[in-house]
Order: sequence, then structure tokens, then C-alpha cells
Amino acid sequence: MRYLILSDLHSNDEALTAVLRRVKRKTFDRVVCLGDFVGYAADPNKVLDRFRKLRRTTISIRGNHDKVERLSKQNMEFLKKLPLGPEIVDGRFVVCHGSPLDEDAYIFSDFDASLNFVQMNHFAEGIDLCFFGHSHIPSIFTLEPGGIRVEAVREARLKLRLEPGKRYLVNPGSVGQPRDRNPRAAYAIFDASARVVHFDRVPYDVGATRRKIQRAGLPAVLGDRLVVGL
Ligand SMILES: [Fe+2]
Repeated sequence: MRYLILSDLHSNDEALTAVLRRVKRKTFDRVVCLGDFVGYAADPNKVLDRFRKLRRTTISIRGNHDKVERLSKQNMEFLKKLPLGPEIVDGRFVVCHGSPLDEDAYIFSDFDASLNFVQMNHFAEGIDLCFFGHSHIPSIFTLEPGGIRVEAVREARLKLRLEPGKRYLVNPGSVGQPRDRNPRAAYAIFDASARVVHFDRVPYDVGATRRKIQRAGLPAVLGDRLVVGL
């Protein structure tokens, strides 16, 4: 079973379209979204319409931004029904928005990660992988015998091979508003049988998204941030 892992779409239709075009010829069975469909950019309804039309079965949880936005009735209903994470997917891995402890909390440091590794023991015994979003930074936190290893994913493409005896908190990065000084849309595919997470980055028309933000009367800084990936 292969999972397409998306997070923090943030109303950015150009970024979502580019990612979906990139994965068209890749194999995946289910789509997982870690929340924050809306907020920031100008196309909340387009993004939600596009996501809801995906032919694969999807598993989504809500993000902090999904609590407020002006939307079509159907899209509002979709967001309202999203469960608050953490959720266990197919008995294989955990998904949450900010962290398993709190959808609004960030995981930036080894200390943040350690609190959450402890929490995972309580509700997901035997599960060694959790995907989270919210920080918009593709990153890997590994609990290993020597302590916790923290890695920012800087490569355009990276393969993370999960090893037995270790535990992982993994952020695929943000589709719609990357914040690691790389404007390319980020996503990951998790191959559950091979136990490999594939990270990937996709260029898209950032200028078009920025113009839409300006035309919609949203704060110009939101578009400026997309250009530099902040
Ligand atoms: Fe977000």
C-alpha cells in the first residue's frame, strides 16, 4: 500500500495542481491530508473542490486554519466533518496536524519531538511512524538508541528508509506555503510495504498565485512570502 501524503495546502491551487500533475504517473493507493486546506492564498474553494474530486480514497484531519474561511456549502460541510487528529491510518501510522498532543502545537526541536514520542506510546502502541504538518518544514525526527536525531530535508528528493527499533515523526512539508526558503511545493509518498518515505519538491507558477492573492485584496505579504518560501 502506497500513500500520497499532503499537508498545508493553504488555498494554493497552482501548487496543488502541480503536485497532482507530478504524481499522476506515480503509484499510490490512498491520499492522506494532514490539514490546513485553506487560509493564506486566494483559492480555498478550488483547492477543496479539486481535493474532494480525487479518485483515490482519502483520509484527512483538520488543521487550525480549517476552522474559519468563506466557502461553498459543500466545502464548508467537508471541513466541518474533518476529525481532529491524531488518527491511526490502516493500523500502520499516525497522522496529526501540529503534533499528536495538540493540533496547534509545533514540532521544531528534539525536545518537542521527545514529548510526542512519549505520547505516541499511550495511544498507538507498536506504531513507529507519525506524519505531522503545521510547521511547513519538511523534516524528520528519529528516536534511536542514542537519542533523538533532527533533520531538515533540504534535498529536492530524499528517500527515508525506516529502520526497525527506531521511531519517526515526519513532516512532508507544505504543498501551498513552504517555509524552508524553498518556494517549491512539498509532498511525500509513503510506501508501507517497502517502509520508505519519498520526499519530493515541485515547481509551480508562484507568480500566478501571488497575483491572485493581490487581486483578492489579501495582504500582499502572503504572496511575497510564497516567492521566497517563508
Ligand atoms: Fe498551515
